[in-house]
This record gives sequence, structure tokens and C-alpha cells, in this order.
Amino acid sequence: MAEKTLQAQMDAAKAYEGLMVPALFGEWASTVADAAQIKPGERVLDVACGTGILAREVLSRTGAAEFVTGLDPSAGMLEVAKDLAPGVEWRQGVAESLPFPDASFDVVVSQFGLMFFNDRSEALRQALRVLRPGGRMAFAVWDSLKNIPAYADEVALLERLAGVLAADALRAPFVLGDRRDLETLFAGAGVEAVEIATRKGSARFPSVRVMVEADLRGWLPVMGVVLTEEQIVGILQAAELALSQYVTGDGAAYFGTSAHVVTGTKA
Ligand SMILES: C[S@@+](CC[C@H](N)C(=O)[O-])C[C@H]1O[C@@H](n2cnc3c(N)ncnc32)[C@H](O)[C@@H]1O
Repeated sequence: MAEKTLQAQMDAAKAYEGLMVPALFGEWASTVADAAQIKPGERVLDVACGTGILAREVLSRTGAAEFVTGLDPSAGMLEVAKDLAPGVEWRQGVAESLPFPDASFDVVVSQFGLMFFNDRSEALRQALRVLRPGGRMAFAVWDSLKNIPAYADEVALLERLAGVLAADALRAPFVLGDRRDLETLFAGAGVEAVEIATRKGSARFPSVRVMVEADLRGWLPVMGVVLTEEQIVGILQAAELALSQYVTGDGAAYFGTSAHVVTGTKA
């Protein structure tokens, strides 16, 4: 992923919290926390916490901020997270090298980060290392694109108008959709009692334009793909037709999503 200054990271994180969390990611926090069966007083780590939506949901269940830790490599994400939940411990770091002692947590949770880790197996081994024996984990990842047609349509549009690199940047969040691959990944890292539940959700953006523009100006550059202004204008115009089936009476873009919630334990 491309590096950014702290101010640029914070601007991007504010935009993420203001748009992407309510539109797409927010509803999954309660699903993941349910899957992890978090109880009051448990020590919980949220890996790839972003602006902290899942950590805040966890906090509402553990009852005390000192039991909740959020970790993310992005200083901008963490600044926004800290503003929203100052009492939680927010730590900068990567999932592949967790800066915590062995057996520090009862539960490790994560939503929509695993696909971006450079070494997913090592990240899972690290999650096991920081869990106490008998500790639990719950990780959410997006289902395959074929099960989230609105994004499949947007990927096809990008491939047609901006080329395969732009399309691949938007495919990246959906690369862990195969349930057998997920099972192999978790079990291979040493996670016990692996179970995968596929859950349906929904996304709601203020408009097709807002949804696609966030991807073109927000997400693609994170993945190292910067389009010209002319390309962006052309794609936004074409998107109105290509994604018209998802537009509701009030002009919002509304569509179904699907994610796998993987749970497991440490022996
Ligand atoms: C799509 S966001 C999800 C954020 C948050 N979990 C949510 O649901 O809103 C993906 C997050 O993964 C983080 N990330 C990327 N690579 C990572 C790594 N190697 N270790 C930990 N987090 C990482 C990014 O900084 C980003 O905050």
C-alpha cells in the first residue's frame, strides 16, 4: 500500500469513519462480537481496528475500556479511533508482529483486515500467541465478489474503463471468499475448532456517485492506483447506468453484501 503523510491519513480516516463505516462496515461489528461470545471483564484485542467500530462494540460488552485494545498500522485511523473512544488502548502495529506478551488476551477479533495482511498465516499464529489457552477468536472477511453483485458490477466497470490494475485494486477486499481456503488458512496456522458462518448483510451509500467516488479517490490510491481526473469523471458518469439497479427511490445505492465469520480457539 502507498505511504501517506499523517494529515492525509487522518483526512482519509475521517472520510472512512464518516462514510464507509455507516454505509458498509458498521453493521458487522455486532455480528463479529456475537460470534466471539464476548463477556464482561474479558480482555479483547481488535486487530486491524481502523477507526475502531468493532472495538467500540466490544467495549459495550466488556464493560470497561481498560479491557479493550485496538491495533492498526495507520496512525490516522488510530487518531480518529482515539477521539471516539479515548479510554481504549490504541496501539500502532501490524498483525504479523503483535506488540503484546504471550497470553495477554481472552479474545482476538478482527473484521475486514485479514485480506490485506502481507503474511496471513503469521498474523493468525500471532493471534494465537497473544491468546490465553482456551481463548477465542472471530475474524470477518468479505465473501467472493460473485456473492456481492454490486461490487462485481463496479469491478467490471473499472476493468472496462480504467484497466485491470484499477479493477484488481477493487477486487482485493474480496480475495478470501473461498470457504475451503479460509478453513485451510486458519487450521494450518494452528487454530482449533474452526467454524465458518456465512452471513448476509446490506450496504447503503447516499448515492452511486458517492459510493464509486469514495472507491476511486479513497480506496484505489491506497492500493497504489491513481486515476486521471478525466478517467474519474468518465467512470462516475458510466456508473450511474452500470449500477442503476441498486438505486432506491430516494437516490441511495442499496445492495446486499455477504461475509464469512470465522471462529476458532487456542488449544
Ligand atoms: C477495511 S479496513 C477495516 C477497519 C475496521 N476493522 C472496520 O471494520 O472498520 C482494513 C484495516 O486493515 C488495516 N491493516 C492493513 N494491513 C494491516 C496489517 N498488516 N496489520 C494490521 N492491520 C492492517 C488497515 O490500516 C485498515 O485500517
